[in-house]
Amino acid sequence: MSGQLTDLKNRALADFAAADGLRALEDCKVAIFGKKGELTGLLKQLGGMAAEERPAFGAAVNQVRQELEAAMEARKSELAAAALSARLANERIDVTMPGKRRKRGRLHPMSLIMNDIIAIFMGMGYKIAQGPDIETNYYNFDALNIPPEHPARGDSDTFYTEGGFVLRTQTSPVQVRTMEANCQNLPIAIIAPGKTFRADEADATHTPVFHQCEGLVIDRGLTMGDLKGTLLAFARELFGGDTRVRFRPHYFPFTEPSAEMDASCFVCAGKDAHCRVCRGEGWIELLGCGMVHPRVLDMSGIDPAVYSGFAFGMGLERLAMQRFAVPDLRLFFENDVKFLQQF
Ligand code: DAH
Repeated sequence: MSGQLTDLKNRALADFAAADGLRALEDCKVAIFGKKGELTGLLKQLGGMAAEERPAFGAAVNQVRQELEAAMEARKSELAAAALSARLANERIDVTMPGKRRKRGRLHPMSLIMNDIIAIFMGMGYKIAQGPDIETNYYNFDALNIPPEHPARGDSDTFYTEGGFVLRTQTSPVQVRTMEANCQNLPIAIIAPGKTFRADEADATHTPVFHQCEGLVIDRGLTMGDLKGTLLAFARELFGGDTRVRFRPHYFPFTEPSAEMDASCFVCAGKDAHCRVCRGEGWIELLGCGMVHPRVLDMSGIDPAVYSGFAFGMGLERLAMQRFAVPDLRLFFENDVKFLQQF
């Protein structure tokens, strides 16, 4: 009988050692200690034994049971520890690995330029005005004193819709709309940034869709001095405090007198004969401007005998090209991510 017991014990110990996981060990447990387990079966034999044999056999079985239970617990801890370290190894995170950088969107260079200009004029108290991209002939031409035979009206220069509307060729119609809407509510100080359209083929310096920013100020007693002071302050905010400006007489139908304003080159200040921005000229053409034509005021419901005003308009693409040293205008709308990511 004790041979049977020793045999059981040795097999059980071997099984525990061979169990490769907690589940296998649980199976061993059932096979030995369970209701139908081997050790339980041996105990059942007690009933059929002679009374004098029972105590010794019972003690021997109990002794083996305790040993096996202890061995089983020990193996269980071993397996649990192994399972834990396997899991830790598996879930290990290397905090020294380089992170994955999240890709962020950014503003388009045209938006950057536009935001700069808006911020400068907002700082001077100007409001933003807007008008439709699809305009009437009246707002785009007539009310701006552009004569019926003016070449800009031809469809080689201007996009017309089938219904006889124009895609606005300039932001100046927003001047007229603003004056009409506020002629009883003066003074006015607005800028109007937005899209403009002309029937040009796209090349390095032209595109049929481009951007302008218009400005308009109406009040009593405004003079060319106000215009010059305002635009000098603007140029200095945009290009730096040392910037100088010069005004060249020009012609626009909607202003009288009219001028074009140049700013001293923000890259070389006129000192580099090979400057890539001003090409050695020392000056950058920045905008057109002038005193609002009395006829334009009158058509918009403002009395030119009481009020005067100045206006200006600038193309934003060329400004962005200079600011960011972009050699070809088409880069702005080809949507090459490698280009756009640089801003
Ligand atoms: N609209 C003009 C253009 O597209 C720019 C301009 C010039 C706007 C003089 C003005 C201005 O308001 O006063 O070339």
